[in-house]
Amino acid sequence: MDLGLQDRIFVVGGGSKGLGRGVAEALVAEGAKVLLLSRDQESLDKAVAELGPAARAVAADMAYPGTAEQVADALDADFGGRLDGVVVNAGGPPAGKALELSDEQWEQSYQLLLGGPLRLLKALVPKMDRGGAILFITSTSVRQPIPNLDTSNVLRPGVAALAKTLARELAPAIRVNSLAPGRFDTDRIRQLDAGRAEATGMSLEELAAESSRTIPFGRYGEPIELGRFGAFLLSPAASYVSGLNAHVDGAMVTALP
Ligand SMILES: NC(=O)c1ccc[n+]([C@@H]2O[C@H](COP(=O)([O-])OP(=O)(O)OC[C@H]3O[C@@H](n4cnc5c(N)ncnc54)[C@H](OP(=O)(O)O)[C@@H]3O)[C@@H](O)[C@H]2O)c1
Repeated sequence: MDLGLQDRIFVVGGGSKGLGRGVAEALVAEGAKVLLLSRDQESLDKAVAELGPAARAVAADMAYPGTAEQVADALDADFGGRLDGVVVNAGGPPAGKALELSDEQWEQSYQLLLGGPLRLLKALVPKMDRGGAILFITSTSVRQPIPNLDTSNVLRPGVAALAKTLARELAPAIRVNSLAPGRFDTDRIRQLDAGRAEATGMSLEELAAESSRTIPFGRYGEPIELGRFGAFLLSPAASYVSGLNAHVDGAMVTALP
């Protein structure tokens, strides 16, 4: 099946590594062009070199107020202001329990997961023509709280609600979907696993093995396994799919629907 992504242009948040990188790889493999957005210039340079001439990058922090304008300017400079879609994604918020996290940690988490994405979309949606698409990367915490990830448990359902709301408000010109990852082999999950290993006294290998046993597929996902689904949802091949909130989790979450 031809996804119809040839020469389409996408901004990919958190595109240098992990799940964002997985979506960027899948888009580029289908002939699309990507503008990667993340903070560290060295990681971005490496990702651009690996993805090839279809990739450009802008170094900025999703949570900062000036980022949306910086991304819009980069899009104008690199792709003449054309835009077909946005992957709303960055790093994860801090781990911890609701009543133990500081006001500052809650505020930063809001800016990372909601404030920054809202500003980014305000700047980028006007650049998209009919047929554009937005993809949010959320978490299984939108349906089922994850122990000790309370910022995610509280704020991600709001992100999923934003995606649903925008799907209605931007219809039919722009489609909006979200993917909720279970456990993928990325830096973020390695860091969370390292923290849990230290807290429990288990080795990292023991902890990863125990965690994999809670996933019916018996393993963590690879970023490209989410990336391919993401590229499909961003493509014209998904022309009647909007407002979808789908898990990509090896059958981990059992909640319905
Ligand atoms: N991996 C999973 O299994 C899983 C499960 C549930 C939810 N999630 C969520 O999915 C998202 C992506 O996770 P991941 O596993 O791909 O993480 P990752 O491997 O740590 O990659 C995060 C990417 O986002 C960038 N980034 C981090 N903070 C940023 C910021 N403030 N502004 C702009 N870019 C930023 C990183 O580059 P720089 O550090 O250079 O900025 C990197 O490119 C996160 O929100 C995570 O919580 C992941």
